[in-house]
Amino acid sequence: MARQRTRFVCQACGSVASRWLGRCPDCHEWNSLVEEVEVAVRSAGGAARIGATALPLREVSAQRHPRLACGMDELDRVLGGGLVPGSLVLIGGDPGIGKSTLLLQAMAQLAAGHGTALYVSGEESPEQVRLRADRLGTLARELYLLAETDFDAIEAQIARLEPKVLALDSVQTVYDPALTSPPGTVSQVRGVASRVMRLAKSSGLPAFLVGHVTKEGTLAGPRVLEHMVDAVLYFEGDRFQSHRVLRGVKNRFGSTDEIGLFEMTERGLVEVPNPSEVFLSQRPLHGPGSAVATVLEGTRALLVEIQALVARSYLAAPRRMGTGVDFNRLAMILAVLERRCGLRMSDKDVYVNVAGGLKVVEPAVDLAIAVALASSYRDVPVDPETVLLGEVGLAGEVRSVQQTEKRLREAARLGFVRAVTARSLRNGGAAAAIERIEVATLAEALVAALGDRYRRAPAEPDPFADDEA
Ligand code: TYD
Ligand code: MG
Repeated sequence: MARQRTRFVCQACGSVASRWLGRCPDCHEWNSLVEEVEVAVRSAGGAARIGATALPLREVSAQRHPRLACGMDELDRVLGGGLVPGSLVLIGGDPGIGKSTLLLQAMAQLAAGHGTALYVSGEESPEQVRLRADRLGTLARELYLLAETDFDAIEAQIARLEPKVLALDSVQTVYDPALTSPPGTVSQVRGVASRVMRLAKSSGLPAFLVGHVTKEGTLAGPRVLEHMVDAVLYFEGDRFQSHRVLRGVKNRFGSTDEIGLFEMTERGLVEVPNPSEVFLSQRPLHGPGSAVATVLEGTRALLVEIQALVARSYLAAPRRMGTGVDFNRLAMILAVLERRCGLRMSDKDVYVNVAGGLKVVEPAVDLAIAVALASSYRDVPVDPETVLLGEVGLAGEVRSVQQTEKRLREAARLGFVRAVTARSLRNGGAAAAIERIEVATLAEALVAALGDRYRRAPAEPDPFADDEA
């Protein structure tokens, strides 16, 4: 027996409408609604399913299942300490960012450590995958490859091999033949994912699903699966730079906001266990416009370099460019520098960049952004052994940030000797081996970070001397 219905599904967010609309009412994406005719074929017989039995909560076993280590510490940490049996993990990211590479490496390690691992590729031929595995040096004996897109056939192979772990690369290429809509549509992607989920929950088979982030509305993006799966990890980075960040945005079995850092090399992805060193490695030590901030990423504190350039603008509306920083906070910091510190920013082009391609949204980086801007404005370098942490308020005050000690310890570990921070509210605690310069206002912080040269001697040419009131 077949039910048939026509509906319009947003390929960006998955919401469903009964008629076509030019713009999705939920995610406001234009032209993203696509007509889908869905025919669900009920299984013959239709016997009532015997479901699970409700139990008093006290009788439910609280025993934790041991997790499977993926053999890559950065991936294991983002997962919350390894792969949980029976869990569904979505790995999203732009095409070409390295999702297949990451999974092939992880599956080979899982195969070597735990037994049969089945990697299903719907995008590449077996020869291509074999060549890649040769290059990566990841040819585990227990790693099986299946080039197939029909989920019925995939399920048959799973029944035959009884793998310990499954990877579907990508979920957008695999289809459920019981649904009539074409592969990659919201109903197919969800249909396939729910079949994998049933398999995972009933047999304890953990599975990775790869989902490409799609710009056009023709393919359903990984967002439409986020609510179904146990963990969502996004693989990000600049395709033209070698660093990749694996970011957990949802995790039923661990904390989110944890990141894993990798470097893409010609022999595949290499873990970066010491990210701060990498992010600071190309820092100009005595160049103006560079300041070091601390960010919390999950359980870790990282140090990142904030770069700024302030240049006279010849445009009616001066340019403001922020890469990796929150644009609204940047605008706010510029206003505070102008009103509270006397730096005329309104006729300057301003560029701010987080080195290494990381995105930082914490207010804790405000102070470093402000100092980098002032440093470029005055053409005075920041002391290279000073790190900056603080939130900047509208009155020009510097506010304290959470987990200051953890940030200071990481800075001390990397050889920083001084930190400009807000006044500490509490005394005590295991203070890091670093000198703290506590400031109340941004104006004080600028003097602390840029030194007396910030109040420039009259003999020195000030790049924008004429601009000040
Ligand atoms: P891939 O894993 O195919 O990306 P995705 O599955 O996310 O689409 O990786 C694509 C890029 O990675 C490709 O442009 C080449 C590069 N790459 C390397 O630089 N080194 C390697 O060892 C491998 C396998 C890929
Ligand atoms: Mg791929």
